[in-house]
Amino acid sequence: FEFDHDSEQQIAVILAKYPPERKASGVLPLLYVVQKQMGRQTGSAWIPRVAMDVVAERLEMAPIRVYEVATFYLMFNTRPIGRYHLQVCTTTSCWLRGSDDVTAACKAATGIRAFGETSADGLFTLTEVECLGACANAPILQVDDDYYEDLDGPRTEELIAALRRGERPAPGPTIDRLNSAPAGGRK
Ligand code: FES
Repeated sequence: FEFDHDSEQQIAVILAKYPPERKASGVLPLLYVVQKQMGRQTGSAWIPRVAMDVVAERLEMAPIRVYEVATFYLMFNTRPIGRYHLQVCTTTSCWLRGSDDVTAACKAATGIRAFGETSADGLFTLTEVECLGACANAPILQVDDDYYEDLDGPRTEELIAALRRGERPAPGPTIDRLNSAPAGGRK
């Protein structure tokens, strides 16, 4: 693994924030740079072990310290994933607001049978995640780094169909919640 030109530019900006003797502080953003580069180059945004070693060398850290960080945070993928990473929040607010429907729609639209699987065409990986901190607009589906909010089954299927066509719908609320009919009786 080698950093490409885009990544090197990002790394220069990141490392400029820290004193040279503290550059290990850049381990989180550098791992993120790796993951994004893998996504650009291979269509699968993940962090292979060899890339963790490159990060360790760049930051003059023991490789085990980098492995610890990379495997602790769920936003880092340490195994290959599909081109689109569908992350369904199933914590309380999203569950109460219909995350089961979002999950069912993801499965129906991709052919995936269970969390943790990648679709046969390699396009989608489905993951169950804990609260994404966006409960006000539950239920939430995170696609890669983007939040899609106020979803239901049909809108989830529409979103996945758009991704399949190579489109990238604008993230954020998928309905005008304040001016739409309340699902739970609240205006
Ligand atoms: Fe889903 Fe908080 S419970 S975003």
